[in-house]
Formats: sequence, C-alpha cells, structure tokens
Amino acid sequence: MQEKLQEIFSQHYRKRDALIPILQDIQGAFGFLPPEAMTAAGKFCRMDPVEVYGVATFYAQFKFSPMGRNVVMVCQGTACHVMGGGRVLEEVQTQLGVSAGETTKDRVFTLETVACIGACALAPAMVVNKNTYGRMKAERVTEILNANRGD
Ligand code: FES
Repeated sequence: MQEKLQEIFSQHYRKRDALIPILQDIQGAFGFLPPEAMTAAGKFCRMDPVEVYGVATFYAQFKFSPMGRNVVMVCQGTACHVMGGGRVLEEVQTQLGVSAGETTKDRVFTLETVACIGACALAPAMVVNKNTYGRMKAERVTEILNANRGD
C-alpha cells in the first residue's frame, strides 16, 4: 500500500486543496478509503486526521469499506417510491441479507439507494452495474440478482 500511496502523493502538490483529488485517487486505487491511507493523506496535506475524516464523510462518493463486485442501486426517489420502490428495496435487502449501504460478506454485491436515476417513466427502477431494470416488481429480484452475480 505504501508504494501505491507514494505514487499517488507524487502526482499532487502538498497542500490542503489537494486532499479531495488525493482521496479520489486512493479510492480509485483501492476501491475504498482504507483508514491508514486516509491518515497518510492527512499527513501529506498537513491536515489533522479528524479533518480528513470530516471531508471524506461529507462526500457520498467516498466509501469506507470495500465495495462488492456488483453494485445494486434501488431508486427511492418520489416516482419510484409512489410506484412501490420500497417493496423492491425490502426484497433486495432480504435476498442479499444486507441493508442499503452495505456489502455482502462474500463481496459479490453492494446495495445502495439513490434519489433518482433519471428513469422515472419506468418507476420503480433499479440498476445493477450498468443494467437498468424498470417497472420493477419484488418477484423479479431473484432473477435479476442471479443474472448479475457472475459479472
Ligand atoms: S424517481 Fe426513480 S428513476 Fe426517478
């Protein structure tokens, strides 16, 4: 990890403004922000670890645990909510055994919720990796998860 971090730091100026791009590069390299990498980024930018953590937690793009191989996003925006998106989310949570924001123990799936994926006409909608599924029903969840398990 140290070698990769040094490579990342060598591409940035040692200043506070560099923290977010550095955290983005760390996440790009490791898939999430390992605590020791956040500490090292703070030292590099001459920032307190608490400040680094504060910045990182402010942005939803940063992950603090490894992501699954496949990312399932179940829309909970207004259109999807009205059309039964909550029931779809419940079914995905039940089948994967995780709550929104969590990754399965085998790291095959990470489950997230989103406020809108721009497919309101197809509500309720969910996305698995790059595949969008509209007019979702809880009964389709098993088939869709199985179809995307091997990606
Ligand atoms: S609210 Fe779900 S796609 Fe827009």
